[in-house]
Amino acid sequence: MRLDKFLSEVGLGSRTEVKALLKKKQIMVNGKVKTSPKSQIDETRDQVTYQGQELSYEKYVYYLLNKPKGVISATDDPKHRTVLDLLDDRARQKEVFPVGRLDKDTHGLLLLTNNGQLAYAMLSPKKHVDKVYEAEISGLMTDQDVKIFADGIKLSDHDCQPALLSIISSDETSQTCCVQITIREGKFHQVKRMVAACGKEVTDLKRLSMGPLVLDEHLALGLYRSLTSEELESLQIFGVEL
Ligand code: URA
Repeated sequence: MRLDKFLSEVGLGSRTEVKALLKKKQIMVNGKVKTSPKSQIDETRDQVTYQGQELSYEKYVYYLLNKPKGVISATDDPKHRTVLDLLDDRARQKEVFPVGRLDKDTHGLLLLTNNGQLAYAMLSPKKHVDKVYEAEISGLMTDQDVKIFADGIKLSDHDCQPALLSIISSDETSQTCCVQITIREGKFHQVKRMVAACGKEVTDLKRLSMGPLVLDEHLALGLYRSLTSEELESLQIFGVEL
């Protein structure tokens, strides 16, 4: 890869900033000063140093984001703020993207990575990755709805696989309830449409988990962190290079 791209990706600064460092002869590759941003390096083998300190390269990065409402799960959009606008420059250098989508008004766990194979595996219907949501509902969900979810709801364009509906709390006075819903698919507005099929409405939707990854409740809305080594290890079930 190009040396200036490498230096940016390891966090030394923007392309312009790293060009200045190169010009000042502060970067060495395998013991030789390099000044050209276009120099090609093998990031897996070459030893690159900045002021004598070795720079190590991470091929893949993984960020656990607590997505707030109001941003969209895309990498760019002409009108709206995207989840990438929540990242700092260094994280953005890695060209990450969201693994799957949450609606603009949904909040909670979203994984961002630049590992395309992992994203493909986590989103593959064949892998049956459980997604758990907590939903506030206008209307009272019933044991009959639990059965309707378990039997598999037929939407206009899709026959849903059996899903788990657990009623957490119900308030007769306000005719509202809180539920947990586990689905293994990720069709457009799926949870909202499944609830609507039972004649009720989702008023708030939060994703709690996706496969082995669980929302970190210490992560404020809009913030993100790298996966821990345990979380990364848990992704080995997908059988791809991490
Ligand atoms: N189901 C929905 O309806 N919306 C989401 O954002 C995720 C699942």
